[in-house]
Amino acid sequence: MQDLKFSAEVKSAPPKALLDYVKSLKTVPADDPRSFIQASSDEKMMAVIFEAANRYRGFNPKNVVLIGIGGSNLGALAIYSALKQKGAGEILFVDTIDSRNLERILGKIDKTSLIVIVSKSGTTAETIANAAAILDRFPGNKAVAITDAGSKLWRWAEKRGLEHLEIPKAVGGRFSTFTAVGLFPLAVAGIDIKKLIIGVKKATDVCLLEDSSQNPALVSALAIYENYKKGQTIYDLFIFEPDLEMIGKYCRQLIGESLGKDGKGITPTVSIGTADLHSVGQLYLGGPKDKFTTFLSVKNHGADFVIPNKTSIAELVPDLAEKKFSEALAATLNGVKAAYRKKDLPFSAIELAEISEGTIGAFLAMKMLETVYLGKLLNVNAFDQPAVESYKEETRKLLSK
Ligand code: PA5
Repeated sequence: MQDLKFSAEVKSAPPKALLDYVKSLKTVPADDPRSFIQASSDEKMMAVIFEAANRYRGFNPKNVVLIGIGGSNLGALAIYSALKQKGAGEILFVDTIDSRNLERILGKIDKTSLIVIVSKSGTTAETIANAAAILDRFPGNKAVAITDAGSKLWRWAEKRGLEHLEIPKAVGGRFSTFTAVGLFPLAVAGIDIKKLIIGVKKATDVCLLEDSSQNPALVSALAIYENYKKGQTIYDLFIFEPDLEMIGKYCRQLIGESLGKDGKGITPTVSIGTADLHSVGQLYLGGPKDKFTTFLSVKNHGADFVIPNKTSIAELVPDLAEKKFSEALAATLNGVKAAYRKKDLPFSAIELAEISEGTIGAFLAMKMLETVYLGKLLNVNAFDQPAVESYKEETRKLLSK
């Protein structure tokens, strides 16, 4: 992929069972959780999302209030955080139970704000609590529910004459970003979701290739798994681009929730360069060798300062004056990689050509398929989250007392 350069060292060839599995993903029935792979090619579904988003965008809302948690908001939050600088409208994210934040959010809402409630189950306590509080204060606002057809939230919206958009039944929360769940609020805020989807489709095609040398998701999964078996049970996504921090948080959920089961799992962490070199760099380079790292960086940053020497800063740090910021950043990243090599710390690297709808869509699509391949290699069901359901169940019991 031109927009996304991937490099990793993998010692073993992909097992035949994994290659057969990759092949089987080309045609997945709609009732299979892996059908998320085809979501971006579902023209009928996309037309419904575009039409609804254009309609609500036409009402010129002051902002979009996105109420949802976990797989129901992290994908949109990740994409929005990466791309909002490109002139997008405001999205206010409301996920956890936090009265102070809710007060701040309520202060930013007016009667034109569009309220979007996203919950696949339609019964997640945090989401329903926040929706109730916001709708209570703004009962006349336009509101849209995004949920499973027939869920309690679906029926609740239907009864009140509110718009409701469907999440494909088999597609689970964290894999639903490229359905109405992520696309609708992003499009209302003015993010170009058509370009995003082009990136997703391009990456999906490449990440379904059986030739592992051409398939970055497959090689990345193999590299993470190979090192996991050798004791590197922590997977650190080390991002040298602060605007992509939420992308890291979304990837953390993908790995954590999809693979942490049956006593197995890879512990995902997110680090931000260069700042975190000054907090956890010592641990990473001098501590236990229990991590596999992917360095994520961006080639073209757009604005690029040149470090001026008017104040003779060369007296402080020689060789820095007159260099571009991008050169200083690249030198740091390459320095870190050299230090990792010296210490024999395993890593892979991904470089995005730029931050754009296309590259962000491509990166997320690659990470989703990488997670699916890791699920196969670890022999776990990557699509459920029984332990999360157990806490929800316990919470409901406690609330009923
Ligand atoms: O990825 C997942 O499936 C979860 O993180 C869910 O999205 C999260 O628990 C919220 O659930 P719901 O969408 O049913 O409100």
